[in-house]
Amino acid sequence: MSTTTRVWVNGDLVDPSGPAVSALDHSVTVGDGVFETAKIAAGKPFALTRHHRRLERSAAGLGLPPPDLTVIEQGVAAVLEGPVIDFGRLRYSVTGGVGPLGSDRHDADLTYIVLAAPQPLPPRSGKLTVVPWTRNERSAVVGLKTTSYAENVVALARAKEVGAVEAVFGNTRGELCECTGSNVFVVVDGVVLTPPAESGLLLGITRELTIEWGRAAGVEVREETLPLDVLQSADEVFITSSTKDVLPIHAVDDRTLPVERPVTCELQRLFRSNAERDGDP
Ligand SMILES: Cc1ncc(COP(=O)(O)O)c(C=O)c1O
Repeated sequence: MSTTTRVWVNGDLVDPSGPAVSALDHSVTVGDGVFETAKIAAGKPFALTRHHRRLERSAAGLGLPPPDLTVIEQGVAAVLEGPVIDFGRLRYSVTGGVGPLGSDRHDADLTYIVLAAPQPLPPRSGKLTVVPWTRNERSAVVGLKTTSYAENVVALARAKEVGAVEAVFGNTRGELCECTGSNVFVVVDGVVLTPPAESGLLLGITRELTIEWGRAAGVEVREETLPLDVLQSADEVFITSSTKDVLPIHAVDDRTLPVERPVTCELQRLFRSNAERDGDP
Protein backbone atom coordinates (compact mmCIF):
# COMPACT_ATOMS: atom_id res chain seq x y z
CA MET A 1 0.00 0.00 0.00
CA SER A 2 1.23 3.46 -0.84
CA THR A 3 2.44 5.46 2.16
CA THR A 4 0.35 8.32 0.80
CA THR A 5 -2.89 6.38 1.26
CA ARG A 6 -5.17 8.32 3.58
CA VAL A 7 -7.50 6.29 5.74
CA TRP A 8 -10.52 7.42 7.73
CA VAL A 9 -12.60 5.08 9.88
CA ASN A 10 -15.79 5.95 11.76
CA GLY A 11 -14.94 9.62 12.20
CA ASP A 12 -11.14 9.67 12.46
CA LEU A 13 -8.14 9.72 10.18
CA VAL A 14 -6.07 6.72 11.19
CA ASP A 15 -2.64 5.24 10.53
CA PRO A 16 -2.97 3.37 7.18
CA SER A 17 -1.06 0.36 8.49
CA GLY A 18 -2.36 0.40 12.06
CA PRO A 19 -5.41 -1.44 13.44
CA ALA A 20 -8.63 0.47 12.84
CA VAL A 21 -11.45 -2.02 12.30
CA SER A 22 -12.50 -4.77 14.71
CA ALA A 23 -11.44 -8.31 13.85
CA LEU A 24 -15.12 -9.14 14.42
CA ASP A 25 -16.32 -6.72 11.79
CA HIS A 26 -18.75 -8.67 9.61
CA SER A 27 -16.95 -7.56 6.46
CA VAL A 28 -13.72 -9.05 7.81
CA THR A 29 -15.32 -12.35 8.85
CA VAL A 30 -17.81 -12.92 6.00
CA GLY A 31 -17.54 -10.08 3.50
CA ASP A 32 -20.77 -8.46 4.71
CA GLY A 33 -20.38 -4.94 3.39
CA VAL A 34 -20.75 -2.70 0.36
CA PHE A 35 -18.35 -0.29 -1.27
CA GLU A 36 -17.74 2.24 -3.98
CA THR A 37 -14.68 3.26 -5.95
CA ALA A 38 -14.63 6.67 -7.57
CA LYS A 39 -11.93 8.35 -9.62
CA ILE A 40 -10.05 11.28 -8.09
CA ALA A 41 -8.96 13.80 -10.72
CA ALA A 42 -7.18 17.01 -9.75
CA GLY A 43 -8.06 16.39 -6.10
CA LYS A 44 -11.79 15.94 -6.71
CA PRO A 45 -13.93 12.81 -6.75
CA PHE A 46 -15.82 12.19 -9.98
CA ALA A 47 -19.56 11.40 -10.18
CA LEU A 48 -19.94 11.08 -6.43
CA THR A 49 -23.73 11.45 -6.44
CA ARG A 50 -24.14 8.44 -8.74
CA HIS A 51 -21.72 6.45 -6.58
CA HIS A 52 -23.73 7.33 -3.46
CA ARG A 53 -26.96 6.17 -5.15
CA ARG A 54 -25.37 2.85 -6.07
CA LEU A 55 -24.02 2.41 -2.54
CA GLU A 56 -27.55 2.88 -1.22
CA ARG A 57 -28.87 0.28 -3.68
CA SER A 58 -26.12 -2.18 -2.74
CA ALA A 59 -26.80 -1.71 1.00
CA ALA A 60 -30.54 -2.23 0.48
CA GLY A 61 -29.86 -5.34 -1.61
CA LEU A 62 -27.69 -6.77 1.15
CA GLY A 63 -30.30 -5.95 3.80
CA LEU A 64 -28.11 -3.40 5.57
CA PRO A 65 -29.66 -0.24 7.04
CA PRO A 66 -29.39 2.83 4.77
CA PRO A 67 -25.86 4.29 5.06
CA ASP A 68 -25.61 7.83 6.45
CA LEU A 69 -24.22 9.76 3.50
CA THR A 70 -23.30 12.76 5.66
CA VAL A 71 -20.88 10.49 7.54
CA ILE A 72 -19.37 9.36 4.25
CA GLU A 73 -19.05 12.96 3.07
CA GLN A 74 -17.10 13.81 6.27
CA GLY A 75 -14.73 10.96 5.51
CA VAL A 76 -14.35 12.01 1.89
CA ALA A 77 -13.49 15.58 2.91
CA ALA A 78 -10.97 14.29 5.48
CA VAL A 79 -9.08 11.98 3.11
CA LEU A 80 -8.98 14.57 0.34
CA GLU A 81 -7.50 17.27 2.58
CA GLY A 82 -3.80 17.88 2.27
CA PRO A 83 -1.61 17.31 -0.80
CA VAL A 84 -3.73 17.25 -3.94
CA ILE A 85 -4.09 13.82 -5.54
CA ASP A 86 -3.72 14.46 -9.29
CA PHE A 87 -5.06 11.05 -10.22
CA GLY A 88 -6.20 8.37 -7.86
CA ARG A 89 -8.87 6.33 -6.25
CA LEU A 90 -11.43 7.16 -3.61
CA ARG A 91 -12.79 4.04 -2.00
CA TYR A 92 -15.52 4.00 0.62
CA SER A 93 -17.06 1.03 2.33
CA VAL A 94 -19.97 0.53 4.68
CA THR A 95 -20.04 -2.76 6.52
CA GLY A 96 -22.40 -4.65 8.78
CA GLY A 97 -20.21 -3.71 11.76
CA VAL A 98 -19.19 -6.00 14.60
CA GLY A 99 -21.04 -9.27 14.12
CA PRO A 100 -21.18 -12.96 14.90
CA LEU A 101 -18.58 -15.32 13.49
CA GLY A 102 -21.07 -16.90 11.12
CA SER A 103 -23.24 -15.48 8.40
CA ASP A 104 -26.16 -14.46 10.63
CA ARG A 105 -26.32 -10.83 11.56
CA HIS A 106 -27.05 -8.94 14.80
CA ASP A 107 -28.14 -5.32 14.98
CA ALA A 108 -24.89 -3.41 15.05
CA ASP A 109 -23.64 0.03 14.18
CA LEU A 110 -22.43 0.18 10.61
CA THR A 111 -18.70 0.63 10.05
CA TYR A 112 -17.68 3.46 7.72
CA ILE A 113 -14.30 3.36 5.98
CA VAL A 114 -13.04 5.95 3.49
CA LEU A 115 -9.69 5.73 1.70
CA ALA A 116 -7.91 7.88 -0.87
CA ALA A 117 -4.71 7.10 -2.71
CA PRO A 118 -2.87 8.24 -5.81
CA GLN A 119 -2.43 5.68 -8.54
CA PRO A 120 -0.80 5.48 -11.97
CA LEU A 121 -2.84 6.55 -14.99
CA PRO A 122 -4.39 3.65 -16.91
CA PRO A 123 -2.57 2.34 -20.01
CA ARG A 124 -3.63 3.66 -23.46
CA SER A 125 -5.05 0.26 -24.36
CA GLY A 126 -5.03 -3.24 -22.92
CA LYS A 127 -5.53 -6.93 -23.52
CA LEU A 128 -8.42 -9.00 -22.17
CA THR A 129 -8.43 -12.63 -21.24
CA VAL A 130 -11.56 -14.75 -20.97
CA VAL A 131 -11.51 -16.79 -17.76
CA PRO A 132 -13.19 -20.19 -17.31
CA TRP A 133 -15.19 -19.09 -14.24
CA THR A 134 -18.73 -17.69 -14.41
CA ARG A 135 -20.75 -14.82 -13.06
CA ASN A 136 -24.00 -16.11 -11.61
CA GLU A 137 -26.85 -14.03 -13.01
CA ARG A 138 -29.18 -15.64 -10.43
CA SER A 139 -26.95 -14.94 -7.42
CA ALA A 140 -28.51 -13.47 -4.25
CA VAL A 141 -26.12 -10.55 -4.59
CA VAL A 142 -26.24 -10.02 -8.34
CA GLY A 143 -25.67 -6.40 -9.30
CA LEU A 144 -24.52 -5.39 -5.81
CA LYS A 145 -21.07 -3.99 -5.10
CA THR A 146 -20.27 -6.02 -2.02
CA THR A 147 -16.98 -6.47 -0.20
CA SER A 148 -16.99 -10.18 -1.15
CA TYR A 149 -14.59 -9.79 -4.07
CA ALA A 150 -12.48 -12.93 -3.82
CA GLU A 151 -13.67 -14.26 -7.20
CA ASN A 152 -12.43 -11.05 -8.77
CA VAL A 153 -9.09 -11.34 -6.99
CA VAL A 154 -8.54 -14.82 -8.44
CA ALA A 155 -9.62 -13.82 -11.95
CA LEU A 156 -7.56 -10.62 -12.02
CA ALA A 157 -4.49 -12.54 -10.88
CA ARG A 158 -5.03 -14.89 -13.86
CA ALA A 159 -5.31 -11.86 -16.16
CA LYS A 160 -2.06 -10.40 -14.85
CA GLU A 161 -0.30 -13.74 -15.39
CA VAL A 162 -1.06 -13.55 -19.12
CA GLY A 163 -0.33 -9.83 -19.47
CA ALA A 164 -3.98 -8.76 -19.63
CA VAL A 165 -5.46 -5.70 -17.94
CA GLU A 166 -8.73 -7.45 -17.20
CA ALA A 167 -10.41 -10.83 -17.06
CA VAL A 168 -13.77 -11.32 -18.77
CA PHE A 169 -16.48 -13.49 -17.24
CA GLY A 170 -19.34 -15.14 -19.05
CA ASN A 171 -22.46 -15.97 -17.05
CA THR A 172 -23.93 -19.43 -16.38
CA ARG A 173 -25.77 -19.27 -19.75
CA GLY A 174 -22.53 -18.61 -21.65
CA GLU A 175 -23.39 -14.97 -22.31
CA LEU A 176 -20.89 -12.13 -22.20
CA CYS A 177 -21.10 -10.54 -18.73
CA GLU A 178 -18.38 -8.25 -17.37
CA CYS A 179 -14.81 -8.06 -16.08
CA THR A 180 -13.52 -8.17 -12.50
CA GLY A 181 -13.85 -4.41 -12.06
CA SER A 182 -15.01 -3.12 -15.43
CA ASN A 183 -17.90 -3.44 -17.86
CA VAL A 184 -17.37 -4.61 -21.41
CA PHE A 185 -18.60 -3.20 -24.72
CA VAL A 186 -18.22 -4.38 -28.32
CA VAL A 187 -18.73 -2.55 -31.62
CA VAL A 188 -20.36 -4.53 -34.42
CA ASP A 189 -21.07 -2.87 -37.79
CA GLY A 190 -20.83 0.58 -36.19
CA VAL A 191 -23.30 -0.22 -33.39
CA VAL A 192 -22.14 -0.22 -29.77
CA LEU A 193 -23.41 -3.21 -27.80
CA THR A 194 -23.10 -4.03 -24.11
CA PRO A 195 -24.78 -6.73 -22.00
CA PRO A 196 -27.86 -5.74 -19.95
CA ALA A 197 -28.26 -6.04 -16.15
CA GLU A 198 -30.03 -9.41 -16.66
CA SER A 199 -26.73 -10.90 -17.79
CA GLY A 200 -25.61 -10.61 -14.15
CA LEU A 201 -23.28 -7.65 -14.15
CA LEU A 202 -22.69 -4.66 -11.92
CA LEU A 203 -24.20 -1.58 -13.51
CA GLY A 204 -21.08 0.57 -13.74
CA ILE A 205 -21.28 4.33 -13.40
CA THR A 206 -18.83 4.70 -16.30
CA ARG A 207 -20.93 2.29 -18.37
CA GLU A 208 -24.03 4.38 -17.63
CA LEU A 209 -22.33 7.65 -18.58
CA THR A 210 -20.77 6.16 -21.72
CA ILE A 211 -24.23 5.03 -22.85
CA GLU A 212 -25.88 8.37 -21.98
CA TRP A 213 -23.22 10.60 -23.50
CA GLY A 214 -22.82 8.37 -26.55
CA ARG A 215 -26.56 8.37 -27.29
CA ALA A 216 -26.79 12.13 -26.70
CA ALA A 217 -24.14 12.58 -29.40
CA GLY A 218 -25.99 10.34 -31.85
CA VAL A 219 -24.00 7.11 -31.42
CA GLU A 220 -26.21 4.02 -31.55
CA VAL A 221 -25.73 2.16 -28.26
CA ARG A 222 -27.79 -0.91 -27.37
CA GLU A 223 -27.99 -3.04 -24.24
CA GLU A 224 -28.28 -6.55 -25.62
CA THR A 225 -27.68 -10.12 -24.51
CA LEU A 226 -24.50 -11.22 -26.31
CA PRO A 227 -22.73 -14.55 -26.71
CA LEU A 228 -19.33 -14.65 -25.05
CA ASP A 229 -17.68 -15.39 -28.39
CA VAL A 230 -18.74 -12.03 -29.81
CA LEU A 231 -15.30 -11.02 -28.52
CA GLN A 232 -13.81 -13.15 -31.29
CA SER A 233 -15.61 -11.33 -34.10
CA ALA A 234 -16.40 -7.78 -32.90
CA ASP A 235 -14.83 -4.91 -34.86
CA GLU A 236 -13.86 -3.10 -31.65
CA VAL A 237 -13.86 -3.95 -27.95
CA PHE A 238 -13.50 -1.60 -25.00
CA ILE A 239 -14.04 -1.69 -21.27
CA THR A 240 -15.21 0.98 -18.84
CA SER A 241 -14.54 1.61 -15.17
CA SER A 242 -14.17 4.50 -12.78
CA THR A 243 -10.38 4.55 -12.89
CA LYS A 244 -10.03 3.51 -16.54
CA ASP A 245 -12.84 5.59 -18.12
CA VAL A 246 -13.20 4.20 -21.67
CA LEU A 247 -10.24 1.85 -22.25
CA PRO A 248 -9.64 0.45 -25.78
CA ILE A 249 -8.83 -3.26 -26.03
CA HIS A 250 -6.11 -4.27 -28.52
CA ALA A 251 -6.28 -8.04 -27.97
CA VAL A 252 -8.60 -10.68 -26.56
CA ASP A 253 -6.45 -13.70 -25.69
CA ASP A 254 -4.84 -14.75 -29.02
CA ARG A 255 -6.95 -12.43 -31.16
CA THR A 256 -5.41 -9.09 -32.09
CA LEU A 257 -7.95 -6.39 -32.80
CA PRO A 258 -7.65 -3.81 -35.57
CA VAL A 259 -5.61 -0.74 -34.65
CA GLU A 260 -8.29 1.50 -36.15
CA ARG A 261 -11.07 1.87 -33.62
CA PRO A 262 -13.10 4.92 -34.65
CA VAL A 263 -16.16 4.31 -32.47
CA THR A 264 -14.15 3.66 -29.31
CA CYS A 265 -12.08 6.79 -29.97
CA GLU A 266 -15.23 8.86 -30.40
CA LEU A 267 -16.71 7.54 -27.13
CA GLN A 268 -13.41 8.21 -25.35
CA ARG A 269 -13.43 11.76 -26.63
CA LEU A 270 -17.07 12.26 -25.63
CA PHE A 271 -16.40 10.84 -22.18
CA ARG A 272 -13.41 13.13 -21.61
CA SER A 273 -15.11 16.28 -22.76
CA ASN A 274 -18.34 15.65 -20.84
CA ALA A 275 -16.44 14.72 -17.67
CA GLU A 276 -14.35 17.88 -17.90
CA ARG A 277 -17.51 19.94 -18.21
CA ASP A 278 -19.29 18.30 -15.25
CA GLY A 279 -17.52 16.57 -12.36
CA ASP A 280 -20.74 15.24 -10.84
CA PRO A 281 -22.98 14.32 -13.78
C1 LIG B 1 -17.67 -6.07 -10.92
C2 LIG B 1 -17.57 -4.69 -11.48
N1 LIG B 1 -18.11 -4.43 -12.68
C3 LIG B 1 -18.04 -3.21 -13.23
C4 LIG B 1 -17.40 -2.16 -12.58
C5 LIG B 1 -17.31 -0.82 -13.22
O1 LIG B 1 -18.10 0.11 -12.51
P1 LIG B 1 -17.75 1.65 -12.44
O2 LIG B 1 -17.80 2.18 -13.83
O3 LIG B 1 -18.84 2.21 -11.59
O4 LIG B 1 -16.41 1.80 -11.83
C6 LIG B 1 -16.85 -2.39 -11.33
C7 LIG B 1 -16.19 -1.30 -10.62
O5 LIG B 1 -15.29 -1.47 -9.85
C8 LIG B 1 -16.94 -3.68 -10.76
O6 LIG B 1 -16.42 -3.93 -9.56
